[in-house]
Amino acid sequence: MKAVVYEKSNLPDHLVFRDVEKPTPADNEVLVRIHAASVNSADSRAIKMGLIPRRKILGADIAGQVEAVGKNIRRFSVGDLVLGDISAFGMGGFAQYVAVPESPLVLKPAGLSFQTAAALPMAAVTALQGLRNLGRIKPGDKVLIYGAGGGVGPFAVQLAKYFAAQVTAVCGEKNAEIIKSLGADHVINYHRCDVAKSGQRYDLILAVNGSRSLFTYRRLLTSRGICVVVGGSLKQIIKAMALGKLLSIGNKKLRSLHAKPNAYDLAFVIGLAEEGKLRAVIDRVYPLARTAEALRYQSEGHALGKIIIEVV
Ligand SMILES: NC(=O)c1ccc[n+]([C@@H]2O[C@H](COP(=O)([O-])OP(=O)(O)OC[C@H]3O[C@@H](n4cnc5c(N)ncnc54)[C@H](OP(=O)(O)O)[C@@H]3O)[C@@H](O)[C@H]2O)c1
Repeated sequence: MKAVVYEKSNLPDHLVFRDVEKPTPADNEVLVRIHAASVNSADSRAIKMGLIPRRKILGADIAGQVEAVGKNIRRFSVGDLVLGDISAFGMGGFAQYVAVPESPLVLKPAGLSFQTAAALPMAAVTALQGLRNLGRIKPGDKVLIYGAGGGVGPFAVQLAKYFAAQVTAVCGEKNAEIIKSLGADHVINYHRCDVAKSGQRYDLILAVNGSRSLFTYRRLLTSRGICVVVGGSLKQIIKAMALGKLLSIGNKKLRSLHAKPNAYDLAFVIGLAEEGKLRAVIDRVYPLARTAEALRYQSEGHALGKIIIEVV
């Protein structure tokens, strides 16, 4: 089969598109023929930090068709259409086939394209877990999504609206129109306006992109507000983990999200997508052979939605 394989010596991207052996599913595994995968920050971060999965093939989000099942598989049959985040099982999405346990997979509804299905798992579940689990979002909450462009942000805006919050989204100029069309009540262009000087306060801040100081986020909270740090620079994420407890003394809380793949959460966002309540914003689609280019574009940090890898 064709795959995009990590090879340290292959500069500058360390990725090679080549033939590798097609996997054979073990007794507890499903063999999926991948139709689409999507790129996440986790892929480029894995290369940067040298955290290379055992198969040496990156790619967490997959959508495809079950081609074979191991003898202990109960939930899936040959021919089923599936999607999932396989990051907990060694990744492997940037390939024509992957063999994984059944737990990260869910059935793909017929009405959802493979591209949309591949866009959802990591980014939409991250947004859901940030808003609902750590952020305890409630109807009427004033929610700030800082860094609303990119992979996670557009899902966060739509999910916050689904939970009946009043949403302010901070993003760049070129993202503003799309973010508004996803339902944001207010859109702030970070090139022109500083939300810190707006005089507004928020019940929940989801810090997705950008590196505002944690003290700024804290100042922007209402007296019982919660700030959930999802992403930003590595420095920002480490600071949030180190200072979270200190900055949570009193009623304001600062929490760091470590999103975990979860089939129930994935089924929840798929349900919303099927009902037309959650839309995947797709920025670019690359063929599998050009995955290195897709990762380079993602790591530049200015994608307008998800980046899809089409596998044929
Ligand atoms: N905690 C977790 O479990 C978890 C899970 C998944 C992802 N993450 C993290 O979440 C973050 C977002 O992931 P992603 O997939 O959405 O990344 P992404 O697609 O690379 O984000 C790109 C977006 O970031 C925006 N951006 C860049 N600089 C900005 C700034 N200074 N202020 C506001 N927006 C800015 C860009 O908008 P412009 O082009 O307008 O600048 C662009 O739309 C990453 O740091 C990722 O590592 C964390």
